[in-house]
Amino acid sequence: TIAVLDYGSQYSQLICRRVREAQVYAELISWDQAAERLPQLRPAGIILSGGPNSVYEPGAPTLPEVVLELGVPVLGICYGLQLLAHTLGGRVSPSREREYGPATLTVAGGEAGTRSPLFAGLPSTLQVWMSHGDRVEQLPPGFVAIGRSDNSPFAAIAHEGRRIYGLQFHPEVRHTPQGMAILTNFVKGICGCTGDWTPGNFIQETVAQIQERVGPEGHVICGLSGGVDSAVAATLVHRAIGDRLTCVFVDHGLLRQGEAEQVVETFQRHQGMRLVAVDAKEEFLSDLAGVTDPEEKRKRIGARFIRVFEAEAARLAAQWGTDTPAFLAQGTLYPDVIESASNDDTRNARTIKTHHNVGGLPADMTFQLIEPLRMLFKDEVRAVGEVLGLPEEIVWRHPFPGPGLAIRILGEVTWERLETLRQADAIFLEELRRAGLYRQTSQVFAVLLPVRSVGVMGDGRTYAHVVALRAVTTDDFMTADWARLPYELLARVSNRIVNEVDGVNRVVYDISSKPPATIEWE
Ligand code: XMP
Repeated sequence: TIAVLDYGSQYSQLICRRVREAQVYAELISWDQAAERLPQLRPAGIILSGGPNSVYEPGAPTLPEVVLELGVPVLGICYGLQLLAHTLGGRVSPSREREYGPATLTVAGGEAGTRSPLFAGLPSTLQVWMSHGDRVEQLPPGFVAIGRSDNSPFAAIAHEGRRIYGLQFHPEVRHTPQGMAILTNFVKGICGCTGDWTPGNFIQETVAQIQERVGPEGHVICGLSGGVDSAVAATLVHRAIGDRLTCVFVDHGLLRQGEAEQVVETFQRHQGMRLVAVDAKEEFLSDLAGVTDPEEKRKRIGARFIRVFEAEAARLAAQWGTDTPAFLAQGTLYPDVIESASNDDTRNARTIKTHHNVGGLPADMTFQLIEPLRMLFKDEVRAVGEVLGLPEEIVWRHPFPGPGLAIRILGEVTWERLETLRQADAIFLEELRRAGLYRQTSQVFAVLLPVRSVGVMGDGRTYAHVVALRAVTTDDFMTADWARLPYELLARVSNRIVNEVDGVNRVVYDISSKPPATIEWE
């Protein structure tokens, strides 16, 4: 394991991801929890992230003593480097110019065997990405420069004897093309990690942990949405305890065409899981009758979902003869965990939308949680899903919001409007897949607008609804760009929708990015 100490850089999570790409497990720890967490974690090496502070400011985050006491290799990046230099007796000062952007690093020691193992196997000059205001002016005793740039004589430093390293640039970003090689040199070459963090090993270990935790008698329930996260979580639990897992799938009527059948088919028929499909369409639709406000829709859906799920959980508990089903499995991911644990800003962040993670559940439930994916990123969950043999439609499925089509029907949600949207949406996705563009886009769907416009069909006037098409590309769904779909595809989709879907005579394409728009329309 590699511990990544978080000093508040926007790239801290990225460091973890890159280390894991080298198949070495990495965990992010807030710097002020290091004293407590590092001795438990017993890492083979420690990476200190960048951060927004200056080391000489009063109150700036410090280097916890435990970091050097453990005696394992340490790599400081940006603020991490400055912190090492500052703490170990060097000098850090504000630079006259902020250095931001690409720079050329000249590695000390030439091609001969004298270069630092951090740069083993790399060329003598490297493109790197800088982003810093302060710089190291004087090295601490025992340190040498192992690389320099035009602006920073100490762009890379080391105390080889103590295996302490520092980089002024960011190896974790793609703009440092050899960054992966540098991080791999550190975690494998210097820390001696073997690279056995693979989906297969993860599955084996996780299944064993679940078996131990649940015991030979325990029962688990799992809310299944059809998305990849809950699917992978449920499959892991199923591997561990078989039929003592019951999945609960709530059909709220706000699903896409064929979705409910597909979920039941996949999990019950193919994966052989015990699945309870609860038909709650009427309850949800009657809660939504007459409601047009987006936040009100979200609240009502979230509240109803919880009630339905609780009733089902109680029924199952009675069946098993326990007061409450002891365990609830959820597909919580690493970014969710990190954000809620260490991001103080979120407390002050404004509510843009109330996300009801249908599948995520009320805080006051008495279950013990099983969250087998809480240490994984989305792409890692997909890799695990593939190794578990889940079908491609599940593993690579675009995310679908908990409140479903209700937030894609602007205005009141009625069964008729749902049917209209389902048809238009199915055409869009079918054509997208046919064009081979599903995997190249992040989220694609249709939206039904509450306006009508005039058209002409045959010889007659029409006065009918507008469908908006939305397609975005994004890595993290926090920001997104509209997808540049080919005109031919858009033309085909538009044509089919007006011809095949009753009550729609106009189709528009949404060319807004996020921000300032959001991905969903409500
Ligand atoms: P926005 O519209 O905020 O959406 O740009 C970002 C991502 O979140 C999804 N989304 C939700 N997911 N419950 C969910 O589980 C929700 O209430 C919810 N609202 C939005 C949205 O589909 C996109 O992927």
